[in-house]
Amino acid sequence: MTDERGRHHPSVERYADHVNPAFVKLLGTFGYGRVFVRAKGARLWDDAGREYVDFLSAFGAMNLGHNPPALIAAMHAFLDDEMVNLVHVGPQIHAGDLAAELAALTGGELDVAMFSLSGSEAVESAIKLARAATGRTRVLYTKNAFHGNGLGALSVIGHGRLRDPFEPLLPECGEIPFDDLAALEAGLGAHRCACFIVEPIQAEAGVIVPADGYLKEAKALCEKHGALFVLDEVQTGMGRTGSMFAFEEQGLVPDVLLLGKGLGAGLVPISCALAKRKVHQKAFGSAERFDLHGSTYAANALSCRVAREILRLTSELDLSGQARRKGERLTRALAERTRGHPFVREIRGRGLLVGVELGPTEGGGLLNRLVPGLVDALSRKVFGQWLSMRLLERGILAQPASQQWNVLKLQPPLDVDDADLELVVRHTGEILDQYRELLPLVRDVGERLGKQMRGGWSF
Ligand SMILES: Cc1ncc(COP(=O)(O)O)c(C=O)c1O
Repeated sequence: MTDERGRHHPSVERYADHVNPAFVKLLGTFGYGRVFVRAKGARLWDDAGREYVDFLSAFGAMNLGHNPPALIAAMHAFLDDEMVNLVHVGPQIHAGDLAAELAALTGGELDVAMFSLSGSEAVESAIKLARAATGRTRVLYTKNAFHGNGLGALSVIGHGRLRDPFEPLLPECGEIPFDDLAALEAGLGAHRCACFIVEPIQAEAGVIVPADGYLKEAKALCEKHGALFVLDEVQTGMGRTGSMFAFEEQGLVPDVLLLGKGLGAGLVPISCALAKRKVHQKAFGSAERFDLHGSTYAANALSCRVAREILRLTSELDLSGQARRKGERLTRALAERTRGHPFVREIRGRGLLVGVELGPTEGGGLLNRLVPGLVDALSRKVFGQWLSMRLLERGILAQPASQQWNVLKLQPPLDVDDADLELVVRHTGEILDQYRELLPLVRDVGERLGKQMRGGWSF
């Protein structure tokens, strides 16, 4: 395994041998080969000393940037004070403090926390909670939803490619279209449902923002039919969309709120399902049922203390306000810079969760107009990855939405500098300017693949 200058990197080879061989091959195919070795703030460096600005933020986890000094200092202090990280025969006191703070922060109604380590596990908690609290089994979820990779989470995601290899999944999970209240009402009416799980914005499906009022109405419909309304804010929560939680802007409080990613700021694995007390009480509120859910590392002291510090820094630095202002600036500047581009369909999002949708447009070039199907297919299969590749070569880290490759997602740390926003707008604009027709784009993709092939697809 060699990098593009033929150097050998033993850890890459070990990763390919012992962790994920196919992933390393794919990186080689696309020519991604970089080994990232250091990170600070919104910057990363590879082993060749090249600098990158991070507009991926570990899929939206690094809200405070990499290794934020205040958090690192607090972590040193936590590690030095001989805390009890795990005990299991007594209350985890730091989990209690964090849960109380989360309850206050969410307005007081979501006052019991079920802690776990990943977003996917928070989804598992919510499904078990909803089934145990309602005595019902059916779960409704939305088309193109993404909720993680555990078997429970997979059962409620709307992407066949991810689900199909693992069928049969949980029975009695029903899919309905996103942002469709009539379908929700029909689904809730047809069967008694334990819950409806939904994201406030479908990030991995391509930053799909529902109509204003959808979430509020959906919650009301769930209430009418006795189903719990579970809101998955694993990606949108903790300030990312310009408010601490996306639901705050929509005039509702979910029955269960799921948090992950930004709760641990990319430094500690922590997630939770926050529930209303009466829901949790019904599900797990007795001596026979208190231990029906949990895991060894859940609610560990280090993660909880770090998460409390993250909450403090998030409010002290007004990260949600920063996300709102900077997100507006980024969206506006990108829209202006790419206006009229034949392959840019839309710039959309909330706060610093921004999507650039690529594909055929009405006013596009000749090929674009004659064969929109071809342009559409190329956009979905190649264009987004190609654009992120070109950005990477210019020192910018960004990725297409994982389930919709024609939408480039931009989600920098929430305290990103204005200069970095301008940098990304400038480079995105410059790259797109070079390709206002399809043929130069296809030629460039072909040449790149050819170069990689001649190099033996090396990393
Ligand atoms: C909305 C949403 N829910 C759940 C998850 C799963 O989180 P994790 O990867 O931590 O399991 C993700 C991850 O991208 C997500 O975006």
